[in-house]
Amino acid sequence: MIEALDRGIDAALDDLVAIARIPSVSARGFEAAHVVRSAEATAELFAKSGFERVEVLTLPGAHPYAVAEWLHAGPDAPTLLCYAHHDVQPPGRESHWHSPAFEPTRRGGRLYGRGVVDDKAGILLHLAAQRAWLAATGALPVNVKWIVEGEEETGSEHLAAFLRAHRARLDCDVLVLSDTANLDTGIPSLTTSLRGIVQVDVTVRALDHPIHSGMWGGPVPDAATALTSLLARLVDARGAIAVPGVYDDVPELSAEERAALAALPFDATAFRRDAGMADGAPFIGESDRTVYERLWHRPSLALTALEGMPLATAANQLMAEARARIGVRVAPGQDAARIAELVASFVKRDPPPGVRVETEVPAAVPGWKTRSDGPAFDAARRALRAGYRRDAVAIGCGGSIPFVGPFVEVLGGVPALLLGLEDPPCNAHGENESLDLADFAKAAHSSAHLLAELRDFAG
Ligand code: BES
Ligand code: MN
Ligand code: MN
Repeated sequence: MIEALDRGIDAALDDLVAIARIPSVSARGFEAAHVVRSAEATAELFAKSGFERVEVLTLPGAHPYAVAEWLHAGPDAPTLLCYAHHDVQPPGRESHWHSPAFEPTRRGGRLYGRGVVDDKAGILLHLAAQRAWLAATGALPVNVKWIVEGEEETGSEHLAAFLRAHRARLDCDVLVLSDTANLDTGIPSLTTSLRGIVQVDVTVRALDHPIHSGMWGGPVPDAATALTSLLARLVDARGAIAVPGVYDDVPELSAEERAALAALPFDATAFRRDAGMADGAPFIGESDRTVYERLWHRPSLALTALEGMPLATAANQLMAEARARIGVRVAPGQDAARIAELVASFVKRDPPPGVRVETEVPAAVPGWKTRSDGPAFDAARRALRAGYRRDAVAIGCGGSIPFVGPFVEVLGGVPALLLGLEDPPCNAHGENESLDLADFAKAAHSSAHLLAELRDFAG
C-alpha cells in the first residue's frame, strides 16, 4: 500500500495543481461560476478515484459543496467523514506574486498558488491515501464519506441549512477536518481548539457630502477624525483590548493545559520572521501571558478594514463618512454574540461631538474546543508519528472554521481530528501562498495509516 502511495503522490500533486488553477474565490464580487467549476472538478476527482454517490450539492444562494462516499467496508466497520473546503480567498495584489496566483508553480520544495494549502491540499492529502488503498487492496479499511465546502472563506453562511438538508448522509463515527496548521514545517499537529470571530462594522457620518477643509474646518466635524478617536479607545497602550468586559468570560487554562503549552517549542525569531515583523520588535497585548496563550486562548482585536479617502484622490476635504471593520478573534468558550454587543455599544457610547455612529455585525461565530483523549485521537497520534516519523503535538488555532462546532454537534459529538498543512511560512490568505511538498507526502502517509488505525476503532 505504501508503494502504491509513493507511486501515486505525483498524480495527486498534478490533481492538486489542476484544481488550484480554478480561481474559486467565494467572496462577493468574484465570479461565482468558478466556484461551481471547482466543485465539479472536485467531484470528478472523487468519481475517478472510485467513489460513489458523487454529487455537487447546492442550496439557494450558497456556493456548492462536493460530496462523495465509499461504503463497502461493511456495516460493522467505522465510517470516517473527511471535510475540506474548495473555495479560496481573493488573490490580493497581483504584483506581489512571484508566480501567478492561479498558475501553481514549484520552487524550492514548495508549491506556490492561491488555495494550494488553504484548502485544496486538504482534499488531496487524504485522496492520495485513499486511492493508494484502493489501488493496492481494492478496498478501504473503513467506510469513507467526503464533504468539501464551497463557502468556508465567507463564513459558512448556509451551514445550518446544509446540515438540516443533508444530515442523513453525514452520519459517521469519526470526523477528520483538514484545514488547520502544523506548529512548524515537519511537526505533525492535532488542533484541539479554534478561536471564533466577531466582526463589527462601524460607520461614522459627519456631513452629507465632503467639503473644503479650509472653508469649513474648525467648527465643522469630520468623519475620519471622529472615527479614529473612537477606534483609539479600543486598545490600551500595550495593545490589549480596552473594551470593558471583553475578558470576563474567557475560560482560564487548567494547570495541565498551561504546562502543555509551555512544553511546545517556540522560536521568537522565526515567529517574527514568518509574521513579517521587524527583527526584535516586541509582541503586543497581554504581556503577562505567553505568545501561544495570546494567540490561541485569548481574544484579540484588529482593524481589518478602514475606509475614508485614498491619498491618491485626497483634495483637502473634510470627510463626510468613514468606516472601519473591527475584527475580534474570540477565545474558545467565549460568547461571540455577547462580544459583538459589547464592542458595538462601546463604539456607540459617547461619540465625539457632531457625528452619528452606526454599527453592523456581519459575523459572530464562537470558537470551539475538544478533549484529545480516546481511541480516535490515539489512532491519529500513531498515524501522524508513522507518516512524519516524529511525535504529534496538540496545538490551538488562532483562526476560525465556522463549520466545526455545529457540524460536530449535529453528529452527536463524534471525535473530530483536525490536522492540516498550513505551516508558519505558508502565507495562507496572503500573496505567495504555498504548500510544503515534503509535508504533503508525510501527511498523505499519515492519512493512509489513519485508515488502517481506525479499522479497529471502538467508538
Ligand atoms: N484554514 C483557515 C483557518 C485557519 C486559520 C487554520 C489559521 C489555521 C490557522 C480557514 O480557511 C479560514 O481562513 N477561516 C476564516 C473564517 C472566517 C471567514 C469566518 C478565518 O479564520 O478568518
Ligand atoms: Mn481554510
Ligand atoms: Mn482560509
